[in-house]
This record gives sequence, C-alpha cells and structure tokens, in this order.
Amino acid sequence: MKGIVNLSDLSLEEINDILDEAIAFKNGKEVNYHYQKVIANLFFEPSTRTHYSFDMAEGNLGCRIQNFEAINSSLKKGETLYDTCKLFESIGCDCLVIRHTDDDYYKQLTGLNIPIINAGDGKGNHPSQSLLDLMTIKEEFGHFEGLKCVIVGDILHSRVAHSNYNVMQRLGMEVYTAGPLEYKQEGYNFVDFDEVIEDMDIVMLLRIQHERHAGDEKFSKENYHRIYGLSHERYERMKDSAIIMHPAPVNRDVEISDDLVESEKSRIFTQMHNGVFVRMAMIHKVLEDE
Ligand code: CP
Repeated sequence: MKGIVNLSDLSLEEINDILDEAIAFKNGKEVNYHYQKVIANLFFEPSTRTHYSFDMAEGNLGCRIQNFEAINSSLKKGETLYDTCKLFESIGCDCLVIRHTDDDYYKQLTGLNIPIINAGDGKGNHPSQSLLDLMTIKEEFGHFEGLKCVIVGDILHSRVAHSNYNVMQRLGMEVYTAGPLEYKQEGYNFVDFDEVIEDMDIVMLLRIQHERHAGDEKFSKENYHRIYGLSHERYERMKDSAIIMHPAPVNRDVEISDDLVESEKSRIFTQMHNGVFVRMAMIHKVLEDE
C-alpha cells in the first residue's frame, strides 16, 4: 500500500511540492493528466466537503470515478474493510480515497497493491484538510515560519487539530490550542483563547465532535458561544491582518457567529475552494508515484 495516509510520512519538501502544484492548478495549469484512471471514493462516514471535492478533483484530472455507497453494500453481510477495498483493487481501480470511523484504519490495508489517500480516519488524521488549510495560509501570508495559529474547540476528538498541530509545527508555526478543558489534548500548548486572540495570525475554529463522545447532555450552544465562540467582540480584537479558518461543517452561532462566517476575515469558503486543487495535486502525486 502506498499513497498519502498521514502527513508525517511526507517530507516538508514533498508537502510544499503538493501545495505549489495545487496553486499551479488553481492558476490554470493543464489538468487532464490521468484520463481514464479509475478512482474509488469509499466513505464509511458522512462527508460533504471532502467527498464531493475529491469527486470534483478526480473529474478535473480526467479520471473515471466509482462512488461506493456503504448503505447499499455488502458491509451488512459481514464484509470487512479489507475485503471491500480488495474488491475495488480487483475490479481495476488505480487508487482508493477512504474515510473511515476507525483511527489508523489504513493499518489494516497494508496487503493492498494500489495506493490509498486518507480522507479522514476517526480522530486520527485528515491530511487533505491540512493541506488545503496550508494552501490557504500560504496564499494569504506567503510563508509559514513564525505565524501564530490558535485552534479552538474539541481538540481531543478532532483529526483536523491533530493533523494541523503536527504539520504546522514542522513548518515553523507557533501553534496553540484552546477550548473546553475536557477536550484538551495532553502534550499540546493549551491557552486561554481570550488571552491570545489579539496576537494570532490565524484563528482556526472547530466544531464539537458530538458523534465521537457520549454524555453531552449538559452542552449548551449559548454557553459554548459565550465562552469559546468567535463573537463580534472577539472578532474586533483580532489583528487587522488575521484570518478565520474552519474546516466545516460550521455550527453557526456556536463556534462562530452566523454573520461572521462570510465576514472580511473569514477564509472558510476559500478553504473549500482550495480543497479541490489540493486534492487534484494529491491524486496527481499518488498516481505519478505508482
Ligand atoms: N471538513 C470536512 O472534512 O468536512 P466533511 O466532513 O463534510 O467532509
């Protein structure tokens, strides 16, 4: 099994090459490289952005696409993840894009002979999201070294936080986390959002991952927004040059005020737009390396 399953497997040079290729695609670089290569998208967990932007990226590269429907598949008859993936290899797919609820699911798939692109594993990693976040930051600031980013929310259960915390530090950024104490990640820099907001270049908001933990009966959207959310008052305290990011889906009026989602500092929809180009660059690299 080859592919891109965790950014810690890539050198900084390889990461920057993917970002540069993504920016070149955005600027109109020829794209029809992989005409008739077949990519299967296997989403065992719900997704809107990742699934459909991979689909768009694959189409832009001229690939043929198979979209696996977990709900209508033989999973219900006891088929394992490995056997599902092996089927797609056997029928002639060249690459699998997989999202799964299990952390490190790809460790079960080392017997495959086609590459895997990880579209998110449980609370482990989300490499394509991190790369599109980095592309958005690179476009905005032109560099990574010395930038300060605070990631606010449910850090413990967030694959976006885990991927970004590591890769941003490798790229020389100062990364902080904030949010409810019960969702703090041991070993990460943890701060009070209100004490650092004025000093941050990037405020990255995350939703609470209710689907990954039980016992949220006491959760109050209003309280969360008041204590940790990006309100107008906090927005006014951000640096003029600072930007807001969020992997989405956004819970409006919880982690961010509804009318700040498309505010001047927000890059939330730019992130989604960039996701197509980053995913094109990832697929291009993986198919070229085959
Ligand atoms: N950001 C993200 O992974 O969104 P989806 O779950 O909709 O793919």
